[in-house]
Amino acid sequence: MPTLSDAHLKRIRDTWGQVITHSHKAGEVFYTVLFDLAPSLSDLFKENIKKQDQKLLSAITVIVTKLNKLDNLNEEVRALAKRHVKYGVPTQHFPIFGKALLLMLESILEDAWDEETKEAWTLMYTFISVAMTEEMEKVKNAG
Ligand code: HEM
Repeated sequence: MPTLSDAHLKRIRDTWGQVITHSHKAGEVFYTVLFDLAPSLSDLFKENIKKQDQKLLSAITVIVTKLNKLDNLNEEVRALAKRHVKYGVPTQHFPIFGKALLLMLESILEDAWDEETKEAWTLMYTFISVAMTEEMEKVKNAG
């Protein structure tokens, strides 16, 4: 499992603070990029995408807030993973979702998007997606 340093955590918090001041644009850019990269994924989303994008941004805010309290975060991530099994999300989609997230961050952050920021977010997304994927596989194997 990758380790996030204090410098990574600070970078994630600072840049996320900038992104959520543009939350409307961030949500729109994220799903536009995701469905450009993988048009078939749109079939999985039943709910209005406007509501969906704000839920995603709120979930990332919760994750960013709790990154330094990993025990609390594990609970969140486990519950989120269980719900994604219900939504019928195959775990293979995590990399493309991560790619869309990084491209959205790059587009919103512009000059603030540098190598360190990219590394911090790549580690953070890897961390969350490994945790979610593991839990999703567990739930599927149990059921
Ligand atoms: C770090 C990764 C992810 C996070 C933080 C996340 C977050 C969320 C949140 C907060 C919701 C709203 C409902 C709920 O809270 O249960 C949701 C729903 C959903 N997510 Fe994710 N998600 C992630 C990865 C993915 C991936 C990889 C896919 C695959 C394409 C995906 C597809 C969906 C779908 C289909 C729904 C249900 C939407 C609907 O019913 O219309 N998610 N996600």
